[in-house]
Amino acid sequence: MPDAVPSPQANMGAPVPRIDARAKVTGAARYPADEPVPHLAYAVCVTSAIARGHVARLDTAAARAVPGVLDILSHENARHVKALKMFSQGGTGSTSIAPLSDTRIWHDGQIVALVVADSFEAAREAASLVEVGYAAETPSAGFDAPGTTTEAAASVSKKHKDPQVGQAEQAYAAAPVKVDARYATPTQHHNPMELFSTTCAWSGDELTIHEPSQFVYALKNGVAEQLGIDPAKVRVLSRYVGGAFGSKASVTPRTALVAEAARRLGRPVRLVLTRQQACGICTYRAETRHRVRLAAERDGRLRAYLHEGHEITSRPDAYFVGGNASSARMYAFGSVATRALVVHADRNTPGFMRSPPEVPYIYALETAMDELAVALAMDPVELRRRNDTQRDPITGKPYSSRSLMRCYDEAARAFGWSRRSPRPGSMQDGDWWVGWGCATATYPTHVAPATARVRLAADGRALVQLAAHDIGTGTYTVAAQTVAERLGLPLEAVQVEMGDSRLPAAPVSGGSNVTASTCAVLMQACDAVRARLFRAAVRPGGPLAGAQAETLELRGGRLLAPGGRGVALAEALGAAGAGTIEEYAEWLPPGKKAEDVQKLYKGGAGISGGTEGERLMFAFGAEFVEVRVHRRTREIRVPRIVGAFAAGRIVNPRTARSQLLGGMVWGIGSALHEATEVDPRHARYVNNDLAEYLIPVNADVPQVDVILVPETDAFVNPAGVKGLGELGNVGTAAALSNAVFHATGRRLRELPIRLDQLL
Ligand code: MOS
Repeated sequence: MPDAVPSPQANMGAPVPRIDARAKVTGAARYPADEPVPHLAYAVCVTSAIARGHVARLDTAAARAVPGVLDILSHENARHVKALKMFSQGGTGSTSIAPLSDTRIWHDGQIVALVVADSFEAAREAASLVEVGYAAETPSAGFDAPGTTTEAAASVSKKHKDPQVGQAEQAYAAAPVKVDARYATPTQHHNPMELFSTTCAWSGDELTIHEPSQFVYALKNGVAEQLGIDPAKVRVLSRYVGGAFGSKASVTPRTALVAEAARRLGRPVRLVLTRQQACGICTYRAETRHRVRLAAERDGRLRAYLHEGHEITSRPDAYFVGGNASSARMYAFGSVATRALVVHADRNTPGFMRSPPEVPYIYALETAMDELAVALAMDPVELRRRNDTQRDPITGKPYSSRSLMRCYDEAARAFGWSRRSPRPGSMQDGDWWVGWGCATATYPTHVAPATARVRLAADGRALVQLAAHDIGTGTYTVAAQTVAERLGLPLEAVQVEMGDSRLPAAPVSGGSNVTASTCAVLMQACDAVRARLFRAAVRPGGPLAGAQAETLELRGGRLLAPGGRGVALAEALGAAGAGTIEEYAEWLPPGKKAEDVQKLYKGGAGISGGTEGERLMFAFGAEFVEVRVHRRTREIRVPRIVGAFAAGRIVNPRTARSQLLGGMVWGIGSALHEATEVDPRHARYVNNDLAEYLIPVNADVPQVDVILVPETDAFVNPAGVKGLGELGNVGTAAALSNAVFHATGRRLRELPIRLDQLL
């Protein structure tokens, strides 16, 4: 019985080390592909070598002759799996492309066959021997290719509204100071450390899937739909996820194919995509292009913001991010005219990647803001201050809270911004030009319906069960902290089970909603446990008879009444008539109905927030970057970056800091390193592995400072949490690009910035 006063380190708001840290660093944590499954067979994909056309001929004779080969699935023999409605349109799928359903090729790297063998080596060997003949057509690889088609995002999605207010064209024409500039961002792939794996095992008509997932309920229901079976017969397990960033949120075409292979063989099958294959089978951040126009009075007050964004997508699917929905809220623009457009090319369907809408659109806006500050000869922080707003410039709705300028003030102070000499090229250190730049970070606050079970046992231990996921963000830890605080237990007394579709449904680990939604439902479940315990204790004959239930407290494994009366948890639970109290809770955000819980159980994401409610809900930050550009080689270095962020209640400053730090490092990568190169002739990803896909390493990021700006917001959700997994990498690229301008006087408007652009 823990009788000691609980460690204060356990509570919400404490910098608790991850409770899963030891398991991860010792290798005890089992990722889905580590799961030992007896009698396993191994699958390897054969993928398309063309981006557009048809499979004309398939010769599997040589492949079948490889010893150990068990089966080869192709369009000729595989039962067709159903295409899913896209996740971004309320379904669960990453794409409507259903490989092996016919001969059509929509993109390079599409699955055209699945080879299954006794060993991985035999499967790989046989896959290399499958001969595919193609009827090839010329593909359109991207924006500059002939043959693409363009449509307005608002016309393909009822949910997307292009923000507009006032007469922006006229206001722009009439204003004295203007910026009119075009920006571009590249294709990026998530490249998570953990590869994309799927293991499927049937037991009779029941299917178990081990797959890293950001949403086990979507995977369970999506695959059941594809296979035409009862979702109750499908279980998905994903207890640890080694990096996802959006890439493991929706159902990719591989899973149902592996399930089908396992069903045909009557034997479990495991597939681990190669890094190269994942680039075409999973999703990516598509390239974007922007035209931004900003107009202001000479005193810096904004008059107009016009923004047109183009985004690449696949032929059949109109996936888009539409970040103008966020960017149009950032300042008191006066008038706004924005539009997002989708451009269909012969590519796989893009998908969510960390801060999907904000990364490209805020990059464009925040670079244009810096250009406007230069045109006004005004300090860029001052320009933001002059146009700060506590209301939505589109609808007039208030922000629930907005601490943007406090973030700027704190980050500017820590950075030493007041020592900046404004003229570009005026700060130097030996052979290096020194540049300082800044930009705004923002991310909408999301919540989703969530359910959970909390069981409090007489031994003073709590078991927490919910089908949430820890994608490396610290969800296990914040869930344990929340329950430890609410039930007055030490952290060690709380066991958390997640990542299993047999547990109560929890939302997608996406949109940075999980801490808010999970804490809200766990607080509710714990409160139900407490209420039952308290009522039982104060009953006549109960151990605290005569006390008022609402005055009781749970602390250190004891139930305490005012005046020093107290009783051990076991005795209190005994009085409640059981050795344990178990409560199941369903938490619904405002405006959601009971049927939304049913939707959650069916794999519906149900995320809401941001601009949708009575108030705008956004987290904010300000990022300051120092760059050094070598005057002879034009080498670009980033000696330091400072970010200050206000995101409501911080449940765990340690994991929060890690998220923001990682986000800013990612932002540096976006600015200087990351780009998937697309071969314009073949619409093929060229640098499709970690040897050639550049990301920052330790030597690229010497000093990162994260400042957590205190902020209280009682409106956003019961936990007061805004979420910050996706906040840190918004704005970094603009801040860095603005710093490069300040160092060199050269304005670069295409990411990533590379030294050849400065020669
Ligand atoms: Mo995140 S890109 O919303 O999974």
